[in-house]
Amino acid sequence: MKVIEATKKGFCFGVEHAIEEAEKLVNERQHVYCLGQIIHNTEVVERLERKGLKVVNDLDEVPAPGPDTPADEIPTVLIRSHGCRPEQLQRVQKLGFHLVDATCVLVQRLQNLVAQLYEQGYQVVLVGDPNHPEIKGVMGYAPQVTVVNGPEDLSKLPPRGKLAMVSQTTYTLADFGEIVGQVAQLGYEEIKVVNTICRETARRQESAIELCRQVDVMFVLGSHHSANTGELAELCRRQGVATYHLQDWSEFKPDYVSGRQVAGVSAGASTPDWIIREFIEKLLAI
Ligand code: F3S
Repeated sequence: MKVIEATKKGFCFGVEHAIEEAEKLVNERQHVYCLGQIIHNTEVVERLERKGLKVVNDLDEVPAPGPDTPADEIPTVLIRSHGCRPEQLQRVQKLGFHLVDATCVLVQRLQNLVAQLYEQGYQVVLVGDPNHPEIKGVMGYAPQVTVVNGPEDLSKLPPRGKLAMVSQTTYTLADFGEIVGQVAQLGYEEIKVVNTICRETARRQESAIELCRQVDVMFVLGSHHSANTGELAELCRRQGVATYHLQDWSEFKPDYVSGRQVAGVSAGASTPDWIIREFIEKLLAI
């Protein structure tokens, strides 16, 4: 079977940075807690857990240091690349934890932009998945943010006024454009649109679309909880190519390639290189 890899796939610089920070911390410090899973990849999470990283969903799960706690025993709280709400950052500092903030710079840009646009008098519309941790965090940067994840949410928009539209960093360019186009028809006096989709995500999408023209089956690798992997797979399906979103080789079935000659492989921003390499080697061996 012929296999072609997407030119852009796998870890982005934001995820790489967060993992490097986690590796460094578990080697240097004793009590390291990550607020939420560091990335949507079970193998990476389990490897870091074996080295001592503890995953918590709430700061209440981290034991607060007392006045006599030695400096090297103060728990460290690591913020992952998706970021968190500003009040969570304040609470980490108030409780006396050691803070390491690995929020991706592009997520920080989105957080700051939402705060600024609100201050400038815009009604902020955030296009994204309301259940995604990045969106939950960004919503904390302005007192009022409307989250829209498709045409069914347009009824939530304010009836009139000045809107500012931004999007989740990992959203699909085409979907963001479509929602902006629909909002443009609703008669607002002003709509300011800022493209906050990160270039890493956009390049993965462009490279997957390009690959879909050359193959008769596509494999998009990454966790089933990874938003950007899911978006990438959906984008490939829309190009009319049979597409499978698989976590790794263990989910592969020979039926997927039966009667096919050329397979394409892409991967989301939280998929480690070894999962991609193993998959390609095994696929080539068919
Ligand atoms: Fe950052 Fe883009 Fe990755 S926002 S975490 S570089 S997908």
